[in-house]
Amino acid sequence: HHHIDHATPEKVEAAIKAEHFHPHMPDHQSFDAYVADGGYETLKALRETGDPEAVQDKVLESGLRGLGGAGFPSGRKWSFVRAAEGPRYLAVNGDEGEPGTFKDRYYLERAPHLFLEGMLIAAWAVDAAKCFIYMRDEYPAVLHLLRDEITALEQAGLVAEGYIDLRRGAGAYICGEESAMIESIEGKRGLPRHRPPYVAQVGIFNRPTLVHNIETLHWVTRVCREGPEVLNSVEKNGRKGLRSYSISGRVKAPGVHLLPAGSTIMDLIEAAGGMLDGHTFTAYQPGGPSAGLLPASINDVPMDFDTLQEHGTFIGSAAIVILSDKDKARDAALNMLRFFEDESCGQCTPCRVGCEKAVKLMQADKWDRELLTDLCDAMGDASICGLGQAAPNPIRLTMKHFPDEV
Ligand code: NAI
Ligand code: SF4
Repeated sequence: HHHIDHATPEKVEAAIKAEHFHPHMPDHQSFDAYVADGGYETLKALRETGDPEAVQDKVLESGLRGLGGAGFPSGRKWSFVRAAEGPRYLAVNGDEGEPGTFKDRYYLERAPHLFLEGMLIAAWAVDAAKCFIYMRDEYPAVLHLLRDEITALEQAGLVAEGYIDLRRGAGAYICGEESAMIESIEGKRGLPRHRPPYVAQVGIFNRPTLVHNIETLHWVTRVCREGPEVLNSVEKNGRKGLRSYSISGRVKAPGVHLLPAGSTIMDLIEAAGGMLDGHTFTAYQPGGPSAGLLPASINDVPMDFDTLQEHGTFIGSAAIVILSDKDKARDAALNMLRFFEDESCGQCTPCRVGCEKAVKLMQADKWDRELLTDLCDAMGDASICGLGQAAPNPIRLTMKHFPDEV
């Protein structure tokens, strides 16, 4: 798993000596450093005398919402799961498959214990018999460090051996869809399930399951340690809270930028160092391919949950890709549909056949708008899961905002 750029004998030697060596990895906060900084005190105190309802209220008060992308109020999930009869499980979605999204990786590579403590707090709050972490296999260095840090937790007696079950994904985008992830954890092919029932009632091995994204749990720790104010005291453009935007594309400083949730796309470009020299801002992907593309003219909307609805899209996992006059929206949209065509699990016809058909239609010089619109409607209305339901977004938004190109 460790690959070394331009390996010199000295570098190889150093790599063998340094247990965590990885050329692309920043130093992460180890278990000892985290504990020295007050880490796991919150968890210990809660386990001794905490009241799950009170913690849940704190999380609700902070305004924390599911940061995998759906934005479901995190505290509310806890009450659903607690209301269902045990044994209960907790599953962490670390699949981070939405193209352009890399914030979970960012936090895991730097502060794995902020996430792990949050996971154990949530597990305590719903009395989970076991925690499963479903981790993207494309992050081998993260898997490596998580294995070590989980062992450190076990050795310190903070969790029983085997309580945390670290699972590797196998590169399927659909396994980030929570019910497909659960199928995969159960050892089956990752096919999304119909809802209801929600996984909070019927999850892993048919048991009530609390599913959270990595970053959501990172914030659970911070809210419990620092108070709900860590999120709800930040206000901008009428919105509260913070967002970890993964910003890439034609900007000078791509990366994860933690900004107020009320930030506009212009604020985001500025935070990412501005446009690359010689590039003019023309379009952007607000939330991964699932959210399609918007034109640069829509530039004063807070990039938050709910606010992009009137423009027919959403912020999702906050995967922002900035395009310029050197790019074409139609090429980006076709690329997105090719991705969905590849990643469709094939379980339902509107998505399996629809994505393939869309790719063919989008290759024409002039798009057949009527046929594509019908196809988008069928896919949106009749697909089982979010993949097939969201796949038409790049098509619809490109037809609407970039008519000259198609
Ligand atoms: P969803 O809205 O169906 O569900 C969100 C969460 O709330 C789930 O955990 C669900 O079980 C729970 N939930 C919703 N209603 C409930 C109810 N009545 N009772 C109990 N639980 C309930 O959204 P979904 O399909 O889970 O996620 C869609 C989002 O995922 C999109 O915004 C998309 O951008 C994002 N996404 C993120 C990716 C990533 O890599 N982070 C990859 C692909 C999509
Ligand atoms: Fe599979 Fe697509 Fe249907 Fe989802 S919508 S279940 S990915 S075929």
